[in-house]
Amino acid sequence: MLKSAMIVVFLAQVSLGQIINLQPYAIEPGSLTVSGISAGAAMATQFHVAFSADVNGVGIFAGIPYGCAKGSLAVALNCMSSPFLTSVPTLIDRTDGFAQDGTIDPTSNMSGDRVYVFHGTRDSTVNNRNGEQVVEFYQNYLSTSDIATEFTIAAEHCQPTDNFGGECNRQNTDNYINDCDYRGAFLALNHLYGGSLLPDMTAVPESNLFQFDQAEFFGGRPESYSMDSVGYIYIPTECKDPTRYCKLHVVLHGCLQSSQEIGDVFVKNAGYLEVAESNAIILLFPQVVKTPVSNPNACFDWWGYAGNDYDLKTGVQMDAIYQMCKRLGL
Ligand SMILES: *[C@@H]1O[C@H](CO)[C@@H](O)[C@H](O)[C@H]1NC(C)=O
Repeated sequence: MLKSAMIVVFLAQVSLGQIINLQPYAIEPGSLTVSGISAGAAMATQFHVAFSADVNGVGIFAGIPYGCAKGSLAVALNCMSSPFLTSVPTLIDRTDGFAQDGTIDPTSNMSGDRVYVFHGTRDSTVNNRNGEQVVEFYQNYLSTSDIATEFTIAAEHCQPTDNFGGECNRQNTDNYINDCDYRGAFLALNHLYGGSLLPDMTAVPESNLFQFDQAEFFGGRPESYSMDSVGYIYIPTECKDPTRYCKLHVVLHGCLQSSQEIGDVFVKNAGYLEVAESNAIILLFPQVVKTPVSNPNACFDWWGYAGNDYDLKTGVQMDAIYQMCKRLGL
């Protein structure tokens, strides 16, 4: 009994020793992009729209248009299942109002940005009309030719990969990653970076994946904002040289996909690491934790559980992720 308790303590210390503090790299100017799935996709579009002066592209897997929830869980649920109740022109007016108030960056900064949108035809969690609404929203602010879409695959609610996860058209509640013979992460990033990426053939050294201290970005109380005390960062081999220019991409997991729920399964298998290693892209994976009642599924905040300003620059999760990017050299 005592012996096993000691082993647990020892293991805890070993994993604690691997947690790093974020530090600066040579981030290529204009290279910050973001992507996410489901609630992470809703958060990704929030991060892009609010910080559009700094964020130059967004990838949205099974997402929701910016501001759809309007600070209400009930409306958020309508966005997901009854998108015919969503008025995109109203969301655009709301966005323009925020920009006029200066609570988000000027919307003109979205011009020239790249947008990638994936929505499966068999999504039973977020109605696929949302994908079209994301496009309708962005067409107001940037060129249609900069928007790439994939709306034809018979995918359930999932992160689509080439060869990992559940059957593409079945709900996979283990981790919401499905094998759709579709390299979602590569195709999203390749579009966001102008079609310039090398195919993801490189082996991924696991030693390039680190846990980092997230708590310092939440005043030492991450759990008060439904955030974990640690997140993940992948530093490609080439990027370990801090003078080597690297791109920066933020990946936002969906509900029930945090490390508290599924360990490093999403981080390692969503298809991002290979792309990052081959193309000198630093990946930041912020992590949410569950909060009883207000956020029982560990979702990023896209309806306001952590504050009314959840979709503005001052939103506590939004600002913290921005500060993480700043620390990394944005
Ligand atoms: C963002 O937009 C404002 C207003 O149009 C402009 O002054 C500023 O230079 C833009 N910032 C960037 C980084 O493009």
